[in-house]
Amino acid sequence: MPVLSVDHLSVTYRGKRGAVTALADVSVEVPPSEIVVALGASGCGKSTLLNVMAGFLKPSAGSVTVGGVPVTGPGTDRAVVFQDDALMPWLSAEDNVAFGLQMRGIGQAERRAAARDMLAQVGLEGFAGHAIHEMSGGMRQRVGLARALAVKPDFLLMDEPLGALDELTRERMQMLVLNLWQRSGKGIFLITHSIEEALFLATRLVLLSPRPGRIVQRYETGFARRFIAGEPVRAIKADPEFVAMREELSNAILANEEQALTHVG
Ligand SMILES: Nc1ncnc2c1ncn2[C@@H]1O[C@H](COP(=O)(O)OP(=O)(O)OP(=O)(O)O)[C@@H](O)[C@H]1O
Ligand SMILES: [Mg+2]
Repeated sequence: MPVLSVDHLSVTYRGKRGAVTALADVSVEVPPSEIVVALGASGCGKSTLLNVMAGFLKPSAGSVTVGGVPVTGPGTDRAVVFQDDALMPWLSAEDNVAFGLQMRGIGQAERRAAARDMLAQVGLEGFAGHAIHEMSGGMRQRVGLARALAVKPDFLLMDEPLGALDELTRERMQMLVLNLWQRSGKGIFLITHSIEEALFLATRLVLLSPRPGRIVQRYETGFARRFIAGEPVRAIKADPEFVAMREELSNAILANEEQALTHVG
C-alpha cells in the first residue's frame, strides 16, 4: 500500500490585498492504516493543506506524492469528506452513495449493492431510500462517509467532518470513524480544531501554528488504538493521561498564538 507524502510544502495565495503565505515548509506523511490528525486554530492553513493533498490546489513550493507519484489533481485513490456534507439533497441516500460509482461507469446492479453495503457499514441500513432532506445532520454525515468509502479509496481526507454535530452525535461519529478505519485499513488524514477529538482519533497528531501555517509539534498517540482494542470511549477520555495531554496541547496552542501575535506586532 502506498504512502501519501507531503514534502516541504508551501502555499501562498495572491489576492487583491497582497500575498498570504498560508503554509510554509510543511512535511507530513500519511501511511496506510494510520490516522494523522492536523490540529490548529482557525486560519492556520489546515484546509489549504487538505486541498493540496486532494489535488484541488497546486503548491507554490514542495510536493505531494502518493507512492512516490506526484499528485497533479483529484483522483479516486483519495476521497474527501467535507465539513458540510456536500450531498445532493433531492436524491436518496443510496443514490448519493452510488453517484461516484456511476461516474466510474459501474453498472446499476453493482452500484446498488455497493451503496447498500456501505450504508449498512455506517449504520444506515433501512435508510437507503430516504431523501437527504429527510435526514438529521448526523445521518447526513454518515451518508457522506459512505459515499467517500464507496469508491474504495486508499486514503480518506476529512476536513472538520464532525464540526457541525452536537456533542453526543459527534462522539458517536468519532467511534464510527475509528471502527471504519479499523475495518477498512485506509490511511486517514483528518482536520479538527477540537483538541479532545484530535487526541481520541489520532494515531499521529500534528499541531499547526498560524502566520504562516507550519507544523510546530508532532505526537504519536495511543488512544485510538486503545478504543479499537475494546476500551470504552468515556474511560479513555477521562484517563489522567488523556486529560494531561489535552492540557499540554491547549497550552501549546496558546503559547504558539501568543508567539505569532508578538511576531506580527
Ligand atoms: N482562496 C484564498 N485566497 C486568499 N487567501 C486565502 C484563500 N484561502 C485561504 N486563505 C487564507 O489562508 C490562510 C489559511 O486558510 P485555511 O482555510 O487553510 O485555514 P484553516 O486552518 O482551514 O481555517 P479554519 O479552521 O477556519 O477552517 C488564512 O489566512 C486564509 O485567510
Ligand atoms: Mg478550514
